[in-house]
Amino acid sequence: MLHDAVVLLDGERIAAVGPYKDLRRVTGDVQRSGEVVEVVEVVGVLFPGFVDCHTHAVFGAPRLEDHERRALGEDYKTVAARGGGILQSVRDVRARSESELVALMRARVRALLAHGSTTIEVKSGYGLDPATELKQLRAIRETAAVEQAALVPTFLGAHEVPPEFRDRRADYVRLVCDEMIPAVAREHLATACDVFCEPGVFDVAETRAILAAAQRHGLALKLHADELEGSGGAELAAALGAVSADHLAAISDAGVRALAGSDTVAVLLPATMMFLGQRTQAPARRLIEAGAAVALATDFNPGSSPTVGLPLVMVLGVSQLGLRYAEVVSAVTVNAAAALGLATDRGQIAPGFRADLVCCGVSDWREVAYWMGQQLVTAVWTGGSACPLPAGPVSLGLHVKA
Ligand code: NIG
Ligand code: FE
Repeated sequence: MLHDAVVLLDGERIAAVGPYKDLRRVTGDVQRSGEVVEVVEVVGVLFPGFVDCHTHAVFGAPRLEDHERRALGEDYKTVAARGGGILQSVRDVRARSESELVALMRARVRALLAHGSTTIEVKSGYGLDPATELKQLRAIRETAAVEQAALVPTFLGAHEVPPEFRDRRADYVRLVCDEMIPAVAREHLATACDVFCEPGVFDVAETRAILAAAQRHGLALKLHADELEGSGGAELAAALGAVSADHLAAISDAGVRALAGSDTVAVLLPATMMFLGQRTQAPARRLIEAGAAVALATDFNPGSSPTVGLPLVMVLGVSQLGLRYAEVVSAVTVNAAAALGLATDRGQIAPGFRADLVCCGVSDWREVAYWMGQQLVTAVWTGGSACPLPAGPVSLGLHVKA
């Protein structure tokens, strides 16, 4: 933690960082050399740009009925069985054009950025057929080309079994492995492949088959593991060398040991469990004490986590997961970058790292994980460029013109 610090940027990268008194001479030299130097003074605390390493940000409408049904006592799986859940968003996304998805996504990515997320992982998974999965991934690529946040696309064709394959799920697994993954890899539409490994969704054997195909096609591996019921997802993630195992509210002791002994990052999503009205959370302290790397993410999606605010998730990291302030900051920077395989490129304010920075209007750095639900972000830079922030509230619903 530095006071009166200077961060020198050179193009997209950080050139130097240090106390003002040490770097004053260097900045003076650069200015005298005739190079164009822009000086920006910030008041507050400067963090590395936050990395939101788990979102499902390509969707259409919010799922308000699901939320209310759960409030009245139905659980996540009952809501899904009654026509809500993931398959409702699938029907919705299948019916929308790519440009409509891009328009919706642009607004949502700006909202995520306004809360400090400079790198955002985005999953497909509301298509569940080759054309719609590719449409979602192309929408991510199109959005990335015009927005300032960096987007990292993940293929999640195995998010659920679509209704047309309900009675022949093995055929769907084959479609994912033999058609979708090769197409995604051919068009370089994703850097990773994820599977919702959960009893009643994809079991461990199916997950293993899909991830093996993904690995053969050069994709990094991620898993929705042990979210609602434990099924050995964390152990599988560690065994396959996945970059992350996500959710983990129902992880077993063996799963904790497996992650601790591996490079797989444990990505925890406390806003999801809260929004679902679950009383349980992932055993964050046990994971850390066993030696696992813990990251936090929003899980931004219309069903189980309609939040774009990583700072809110950091507050929940402290009060719901029992993490320390320093642990939640690492969890949304260095460790979240590692969950995307980007730990040597971003997530730190250090020479050579990508110049992604977030300024928060606080006087003590810990306040970023304290003022619950308050917008604290006052300035954001991605790849060395300042990002204009929205002056007022941003619509996350369907009030967006394509
Ligand atoms: O991470 N667990 C599976 N997928 C999402 C939920 C997506 C949805 O409900 O639309 C999650 O919680
Ligand atoms: Fe998720």
